[in-house]
Order: sequence, then C-alpha cells, then structure tokens
Amino acid sequence: MFIVAIGGSPNQKSRSSELLNYSIDYLEHHGIESYTVTAHDFVAEDLLYANFNSPSIKLLNEKIAKADGIIIATPIYKAAYSGVLKTILDLIAERGLLNKIILPIATAGTHNHFLALDYALRPIITALKAKEILHGIFATDNQIQYATSTQPLLFDPSLKARLIESLNEFIATLHHQKTNTLAIHPLLAEAI
Ligand SMILES: Cc1cc2nc3c(=O)[nH]c(=O)nc-3n(C[C@H](O)[C@H](O)[C@H](O)COP(=O)(O)O)c2cc1C
Repeated sequence: MFIVAIGGSPNQKSRSSELLNYSIDYLEHHGIESYTVTAHDFVAEDLLYANFNSPSIKLLNEKIAKADGIIIATPIYKAAYSGVLKTILDLIAERGLLNKIILPIATAGTHNHFLALDYALRPIITALKAKEILHGIFATDNQIQYATSTQPLLFDPSLKARLIESLNEFIATLHHQKTNTLAIHPLLAEAI
C-alpha cells in the first residue's frame, strides 16, 4: 500500500505539516509507504506559471498515479485552503485522483472556517475524480503545541483521538479498496 502526502503550507515550521508528519509516521507503522511533498519541493516559478514539464511536477504525477490514497494538508487561508496548495493541485493531471481515497487535513486560527474543507477543498478534489473523500481532520492552532527544548510536540487529547480515528478509517478504506480492486477480473479491470 502506498500513499502520497501533500503539504499545503508555505511555512517550513507549520502546524498542518506537524499533523501530516504524524499521520505519515502512523501509516508507516501500519505498513503503508509514502511519498511526501510540500511547496518547498518545487521551483516557485513552476507552480506560479503552471509548468507541467517541471521534473518535480512530473515526478509528483508519477507518484500519484501509483498511489492508493492521498493525504492533503493545508492551513486555512481567507476561509479556504492555501494559495500554494491550489498551485500544486492545478498541476495534478486531469482525472489524476481517479480511484484514490483522499484524507484532508486542515489547521486554522479559529473554528470559524471549519466548513472550508467541505466547501472549498472538496470541489477541486471531486473535479480530479477522486473515488472517496473522507471527512478528514480540522484542528485549531491552540490544539497543537510545537516541541520546545523542554517538551515534545503536543496535540490536544481530543484532536489526537480524532486524528487516530481518521487515520484508522483511512487505513481500513485503503484496504477495502485494494481488496475490491483485486477482486475484479483482470480483463474487466482493463475495460473500466
Ligand atoms: C494569510 C493568512 C490567512 C489566514 N486566514 C485564516 C482564516 O481565514 N481563518 C482562520 O481560522 N485562520 C486563518 N489563518 C490562520 C492559519 O490558518 C493558521 O494559523 C494555520 O494553522 C496555519 O497553518 P500552518 O502552520 O500549517 O502554516 C490565516 C493565516 C494566514 C497567514
């Protein structure tokens, strides 16, 4: 099982990336391999000018084509997902999320825009033909304490419980999808 993790924060130090990294570690403990990208893995001009010929964009699309699922993490910016995440999603091939299970993750300053995953991110994922979009995780900044010299990274206990529940649902859905795909006769699979 293999997933691609996309980090949508423009910041190197980032709460949404902390949730993403925790998720990747959790999945690896459950035997799921991953490939991670953030905005920092691309040349800014390639993102700004939608350069589909960029080697890093081609590599991302190759990895996505092989993936069973995708995690998309983003900060909430102006009641939507981040602009830099949009520039990455714009470069995913047409129908690029076909047959993929998607787990969205968002962090925000307040609860005010907790519906942003549904009204902003969901439509673009649907346009890319994802098979299933899970409910995902929404967290506020005060639920995530960065590690300091004296304490490790801390998630609010309720957030941690929701995160693990979502990750377990993601794992179960990936396994279910894999089993169903394998059950289809190869000739039929070719025709789909
Ligand atoms: C430009 C900008 C716009 C933001 N807009 C919102 C917003 O509309 N609603 C909200 O709740 N938080 C907003 N925030 C706060 C961020 O969503 C929040 O701090 C988030 O956790 C940052 O994620 P990151 O640490 O992964 O970059 C905004 C922050 C910035 C810098």
